[in-house]
Amino acid sequence: MDAKCSFGHAAQGTKKLIYFKDLHTKAIELGPNRGSSAYGPPPMSDFPLTKEQRVKRIRDYIDKMPSLSTTVTKVLEVCNQPNTAPNDLNKVISLDPVLTGQVLKLINSAYYSLPNHITSLTRAIIMLGINTVKNLALSTAILGSFNQEESFQTLSMDQFWTHSISVGVTAKTLAGRMGIPVAMREEYFVAGLLHDLGKIPLNNCLATEYIQAMELSSLDQSPLRNAETMVLGFDHGVVGKMIAEKWQLSANITESLYFHHEPSNATQDNRMLAAVVALANTYANLFDFGSAGDPYPEGPIIAFLLKALGLTWNDMTALRHTVTAEIEKAQIFLRISKEAQQPS
Ligand SMILES: [Fe+2]
Ligand SMILES: [Fe+2]
Repeated sequence: MDAKCSFGHAAQGTKKLIYFKDLHTKAIELGPNRGSSAYGPPPMSDFPLTKEQRVKRIRDYIDKMPSLSTTVTKVLEVCNQPNTAPNDLNKVISLDPVLTGQVLKLINSAYYSLPNHITSLTRAIIMLGINTVKNLALSTAILGSFNQEESFQTLSMDQFWTHSISVGVTAKTLAGRMGIPVAMREEYFVAGLLHDLGKIPLNNCLATEYIQAMELSSLDQSPLRNAETMVLGFDHGVVGKMIAEKWQLSANITESLYFHHEPSNATQDNRMLAAVVALANTYANLFDFGSAGDPYPEGPIIAFLLKALGLTWNDMTALRHTVTAEIEKAQIFLRISKEAQQPS
């Protein structure tokens, strides 16, 4: 049996030691209280900061992040109206050549494996579906704000996005298994893709303290968010919520960022999404699909979530091949979003 199938503590033990050593090396490289912002360097001051100073630093970083573009805001607006037709979306997107190019690139990518090349935007929107187009626009805007290497002071950017994609793909696959209608499954992908966004400002602005939190989590073999709360006074869910509010994301996405480690605190309407993201996150961490620095499962939460969602652990292990194949496909989605940020 694969060692990791039974939570693999023995197999993971070796990994943790290496991981912990790497953290020390990183801490020495960074020096005391380092952390530079992509939107302007934070002030250097003596360590430690107070909780209020930390919150202010994060708040300043988020305030300086670019707003979502007019097109993306308009796309979200149009998509959130009931009875939106592909032509309504066409009118908005066709005004933005970059987004138009991305939509066509996506429909013609290996992700959809179509026999014929699609050149009509309206046709592409019809084939992709309104939700997918909305999510492509949203993901592009969001990745564009964080894609810089300097946003990742302590976590590996590639590992982070692989983890994020994996949680998105797993959440979407679980939604399918639970019988969630196809049109709503993309929401699960986006919620999973974005769930750990709050870690990026923490990494960037409070790098030394974030390493301490990761060390503490590693020593205690306990979830990272507990260590974040201990070291920083708040966790990445709170920061994720601050980002979602800045961008005025929908309530279900906002709550899945805020409550993906404690879905029972989400409001009734949004609890299912937060719970699926929580389970997908635990799954990705257990099976090492990328890494967002949080390999220790919140033990009791797995049984609780499986029961709440009407799933079994066998359902989860059976997902492995599908999820692995879907992750490869979804990398295309992410690459298209990333490419939009490169100067042409
Ligand atoms: Fe998380
Ligand atoms: Fe995560």
